[in-house]
Amino acid sequence: MTQHIRTATVDGVATIEIARPEKKNALTVAMYQAMADALRAAQDDAAVRAVMITGQPGIFTSGNDIEDFMARPPGAGGSDPAQSPVFQFMHALLECDKPVVAAVTGAAIGIGTTMLLHCDFVYVSDEARLAMPFVALALVPEYASSLLVPQLMGQRRAAEKLLLGDPFTPEQAVECGIANAVLPTAEVAKHARRVAERFNALPPSAVREAKRLMRAPQREQVLRVIAEEGALFSARLRSPEAMEAFQAFFQKRAPDYAKFS
Ligand code: COA
Repeated sequence: MTQHIRTATVDGVATIEIARPEKKNALTVAMYQAMADALRAAQDDAAVRAVMITGQPGIFTSGNDIEDFMARPPGAGGSDPAQSPVFQFMHALLECDKPVVAAVTGAAIGIGTTMLLHCDFVYVSDEARLAMPFVALALVPEYASSLLVPQLMGQRRAAEKLLLGDPFTPEQAVECGIANAVLPTAEVAKHARRVAERFNALPPSAVREAKRLMRAPQREQVLRVIAEEGALFSARLRSPEAMEAFQAFFQKRAPDYAKFS
């Protein structure tokens, strides 16, 4: 249980709200677990016709909590990394056969952007910035982003986003197909909810079958890439380069990679 993930089901829409604004909605192990549980509960609840994931005004999520990266990486204490809450969240979102609508209320960093690749509808605040700075943190892309981002925007632009970690605008997210539309911050969640509520008037099993068909051709490949990325990512979390990156973040300085080969 964590108070940083709020859930509610109203009028057929299960809402998962990330609510840790004092830490820019950084996602802890407990928050991933709560989101995984909420997605599975929505999946099992016949009254739920769609799921909405949202954040706080000005921040969707700053990605994985960097303190957790250091203290509680997947596989900590000899546990199976694939069973860790972050992977449970990833798989619960992948397996959710009900439509998932993301209301990107502000900055979306790291998994804040990569989770959007697995949502069905994405609406982004006009003030948001998106970024996948995995390499800058001495990590590697995750959540099948190394497969899906080049597919969406081509290798050249994917290299800017995934190798250099360049942030990009909501308009660019729409242009490359990560998002559906850009809206004023105050409108994003309302619009996302309206889209989610449209599924109350649609036949639920036809929606589920259609979503499954849309995802099926790439499903095995996505799962394989997530596992491959995940193993590397988990190993790199313990690397000296990553320790330098995490310490630099908390010391509010630029990391120094000059001593690494
Ligand atoms: N993990 C842990 N703590 C985080 C965090 C994260 N991902 N993102 C922000 N925080 C914390 C900061 O340490 C700070 O804590 P403090 O008040 O105790 O010092 C607080 O949240 C506010 O963050 P701050 O950086 O001061 O806010 P900002 O408005 O200047 O910048 C961001 C916002 C999101 C651009 C910036 O916080 C950021 O770049 N975060 C890290 C993003 C990241 O690299 N995520 C991992 C991706 S794999």
